[in-house]
Amino acid sequence: MRIFGFFLVILGLASCGQKSQETKLPAADREQFLLKGDTITKVAFAAISGELQTALQRGGIEAALQHCNVRAIPLTDSLARTQHVSLRRVSNKPRNRNNKADRLEEFMIKGFTNDQNEKNPITPKLVLKNDTVIYYKPIIIQALCLNCHGTPGNELLKKNDRLIRQLYPGDKAVGYKQGDVRGLWRVAFPYKPTTRPHGQGL
Ligand code: HEC
Repeated sequence: MRIFGFFLVILGLASCGQKSQETKLPAADREQFLLKGDTITKVAFAAISGELQTALQRGGIEAALQHCNVRAIPLTDSLARTQHVSLRRVSNKPRNRNNKADRLEEFMIKGFTNDQNEKNPITPKLVLKNDTVIYYKPIIIQALCLNCHGTPGNELLKKNDRLIRQLYPGDKAVGYKQGDVRGLWRVAFPYKPTTRPHGQGL
């Protein structure tokens, strides 16, 4: 019931005063965008965590922190360019303030968090806004992430916390637990509605 409520409000927000456009996204297009969003975010996650693992192996948490500091955003940007989409990794508690969630993104993060708290499945969402389809996928905290996003003095060692605060004076991205919603991937695709009537020809 709660999931349904969350979904309805998204439709309301997305419609921006017009009649809900989500209903106009044909099922085949929905499936295609969900699939594309899933693929792009998986590639992006693999690229970021691949670089993270290599940096961790080379020089531990400290080296990895410095690495993420300079590489994370250029990496997502270059992926976005090759895929001809806009791709962002955002959070309501950002480390890098360039990754701060906007109003709709914060709303989506809250929805995913509620679903998570109520043990409902958290599935990616699509929003149709004018001529853009936006795909939102939650980012969940795993054990490894706690080294840099956990509780300072606990999983996040004090010395690493100090380094984080040097690199990111306004850091908000600590105190997470395994399974928490850390933020989301947002992929925006250009969209032209199909004019061909359904059920005719091919
Ligand atoms: C070695 C430390 C380190 C580890 C491990 C790490 N992160 Fe981060 N994380 C960072 C840093 C540094 C940034 C800021 C990157 C930037 O400047 O764009 C960041 C940024 C992020 C962001 C973007 C939003 C923001 O706050 O700027 C998300 C989302 C995120 N991390 C999720 C995760 C998840 C999920 C994991 C585990 C799979 C993880 N991180 C593991 C250091 C780490």
